[in-house]
Amino acid sequence: MLKTKNCLALGLVLLLVLGILAGCGGPSEPVDLDEEENGVEENGGEELVLLEEGVLKAAFNADFPPFEMRDENDVLCGFDYDLMNELGKIMGYEVHFDDVPFDGIFAGLGTAYDVVISGVTINDERLLTMDFSDPYFDAGQVIVVRKGYDGIAGEEDLPGKKLGVQIGTTGQDVLTDMEEIADDDILVYDNYPLAFIDLVNGGSDAVVCDVPVAKTEAKRNDKVELVSEEPFTVEFYGIAVAKGNSKMVEELNAALAQVKESGVYDELLVKWFVEYEGEE
Ligand code: ARG
Repeated sequence: MLKTKNCLALGLVLLLVLGILAGCGGPSEPVDLDEEENGVEENGGEELVLLEEGVLKAAFNADFPPFEMRDENDVLCGFDYDLMNELGKIMGYEVHFDDVPFDGIFAGLGTAYDVVISGVTINDERLLTMDFSDPYFDAGQVIVVRKGYDGIAGEEDLPGKKLGVQIGTTGQDVLTDMEEIADDDILVYDNYPLAFIDLVNGGSDAVVCDVPVAKTEAKRNDKVELVSEEPFTVEFYGIAVAKGNSKMVEELNAALAQVKESGVYDELLVKWFVEYEGEE
């Protein structure tokens, strides 16, 4: 009887001690915490946080050849597509792509996808709400007209004309910012392919868009031409990430540097800006 009591008492004491250890941290735990804290301080962004483990979710609006589009078999492809896959390989993640409308694409950053790689121009307004990788492409706006149309020789001739742009783009911004252009003259489309169709049909006088996309359209569509191949804005593309995700920016930049150094970047330039003829 006494024995049992003693055992019970000992058991209780043990339970209590174990409870305290578990709740407040045993002798070894404060060391672990210290290590974690030090880790955070040392590398600033600590571990890369992904929405889904091992998968890098990327979004783009796949109507922007040659950066992102669908081929004749409806398979996603393009310069951004290939580049992101290469970056993912280096970073050690499988890349999954989401094709979403450009207007509102940034709303899903950090909630529906980890990055947006969609020919996105880095600008001050966007930098207020998101972060960017280093620039990976240089592309400003140009003017596209129906072949033979001589009503526009440069951006000074844009006021008074019907002008097509994709919604939510820097092309729309630049036209909106030109005071002499009436809001009613800016025709906003869900994507550039639609804007080009309307241009060919006479619904607009010109389309304002990023130079590589304009050149790709002119390659595949002999009814349109660029007024000039010299852009009238200066823009650089970056990969957008959720504000504050500095670890992601760091990893993307390291991978970008590697893709450039290895020559893979140049191979992609040739593939998409020289060899690619555009889809009919
Ligand atoms: N560079 C322009 C911008 O950032 C146009 C990008 C449009 N991208 C696309 N995939 N449709 O606003």
